[in-house]
Amino acid sequence: MRNIPARAVAAIVLTAVAACAQPFTPKIPKFWDDHEVERFEVPLANPRYSPRHMSSAEYYALKVRPIYKTYPVYAPGREPAGYREHLKTLEPEIIFDPAKLRTEADWIAAGKLVFESEPLLFPAPENGVFFPTPLPPNADGTLPFFVPGARYVIRTKGVLEVGINSCAGCHTRVMPDGSLLAGAQGSFDFPASAEDLERSRNRTPESLRRYQERSWILYGAPWVEPKESYFARLTKDVALQHLATNRPGVLPRQGTSEFAPPHIPSLIGVRDRKFLDATGFARHRDIADLARYAITNQGLDTLAHFGDFQPSAKATAFSSEIGTRYSDEQLYALGLYIYSLQPPPNPNQPSGLSRRGEKIFVQQGCAGCHPAPLYTNNKLTPAKGFTVPDEMKGSGDVLNVSVGTDPTLALATRRGTGFYKVPSLRGVWFRNAFGHGGWVDTLEEWLDPARLRADFVPKNPNGPRGAVPGHEFGLKLAPNDRAALIAFLKTL
Ligand code: HEC
Ligand code: HEC
Repeated sequence: MRNIPARAVAAIVLTAVAACAQPFTPKIPKFWDDHEVERFEVPLANPRYSPRHMSSAEYYALKVRPIYKTYPVYAPGREPAGYREHLKTLEPEIIFDPAKLRTEADWIAAGKLVFESEPLLFPAPENGVFFPTPLPPNADGTLPFFVPGARYVIRTKGVLEVGINSCAGCHTRVMPDGSLLAGAQGSFDFPASAEDLERSRNRTPESLRRYQERSWILYGAPWVEPKESYFARLTKDVALQHLATNRPGVLPRQGTSEFAPPHIPSLIGVRDRKFLDATGFARHRDIADLARYAITNQGLDTLAHFGDFQPSAKATAFSSEIGTRYSDEQLYALGLYIYSLQPPPNPNQPSGLSRRGEKIFVQQGCAGCHPAPLYTNNKLTPAKGFTVPDEMKGSGDVLNVSVGTDPTLALATRRGTGFYKVPSLRGVWFRNAFGHGGWVDTLEEWLDPARLRADFVPKNPNGPRGAVPGHEFGLKLAPNDRAALIAFLKTL
């Protein structure tokens, strides 16, 4: 910038402003198109069980969920007198209205509303707190907006509701300085409360059975493991352990595995990814695929048929209100918003050490799979034990080298394509929980040869103990070379 005359800079800025202010009337296709829906997901490792989703006609018969104005929930003891009584006098207000969007910037701002909207609503609890949060309230006593249940929604005058499952709830990161980073890997802890743990410890057989049934709806894959054996594994103690060992940045989204949950990816830079999910389950050819991804993930996937198995005939706790959907305009705006997300300025500027690390990165062959500028080749690699089908081999999307990490997610789940995608290393400095299972929280541990050993103990006390196998690249480096490599990775 230093050598560019100020006038030129002003011209560039004006052009950028003008571009944003230009009328913008996108042509939005019908995203849930039968032909495209059949093609946007990669076949499962056992393709006979690839999901068959509801038809376009069925989908568009669902009612659109309007997005309403919301109001903050206060931490206990911080609510101004008469606050909720006042809210009960307010009329519902729909805040997403495509007819009012004029410019691209308007659409992006509207997409943020979709990102933050909570699709699944419940009556607001009388005492005000829906979800225990370890995060401190804001200075004014309001709860951090993205935490589940932290906003009142008014759909009917006089009735207060709170919701869960906004994109923002899982894809907002609390940075070390307390600022929020939209779209980054969520770091919000979903801890079980002491009462939850106590309840779990004292489960009756009926309550264990309900837990197992719910887990089956979210994660069951009967072509891999029959229900009886799944239930036998999910004992009271195992259920308690899963509840008690929650880790920020790792979450078993439906269709993955309660036993092998994936890390939450950062959505910053997702525009450049060819495949979505650790297993590359959804193709990402354009904004329409991202829209379809949002549709399936906000509830339609539990209604799909995997062979003759349908996880649930009605919406689930992890999906939206029964019988509702996003509008295509909402989804288009959501996509534009996600594409607009930018990383924060990187405090780790290149240094002598990091430049040396860059050379090591190339020497060690990292750049073969994680090449600049995206630091991913955007390809799929087969999980240990998976034979790449011929049609995938010919696609140009597969690098037929297994990195040998835990194959459970790829082979034994409803998102299991048999593959793991090569993740981008951009932004590793503001991520944690590395490897698709988020087994270790730091790059130092990811590149520590000790993690291959059976007696490995990760720094995170809730992290899985024992060997973290696979991806043995860079593990034989001398300590100072490893430090240089890590310094380089942190600049990306
Ligand atoms: C309950 C938490 C949760 C919510 C809510 C959620 N996500 Fe995610 N998201 C995840 C997890 C976990 C994954 C990783 C899944 C995997 O790898 O199998 C993920 C993966 C993704 C990916 C794939 C990115 C990549 O690079 O692989 C996209 C895109 C995405 N989410 C977008 C969204 C959008 C858009 C919404 C709202 C409509 C949303 N998510 C809501 C937890 C959530
Ligand atoms: C043959 C391809 C390949 C090579 C070579 C390779 N990687 Fe990877 N890398 C992958 C794949 C695939 C994953 C995801 C594995 C998984 O999650 O199971 C990955 C994951 C990672 C992760 C974790 C990222 C995250 O978001 O969790 C880091 C960090 C990483 N690689 C760094 C490196 C470095 C440094 C090197 C060189 C020393 C290297 N990789 C060499 C394919 C490769």
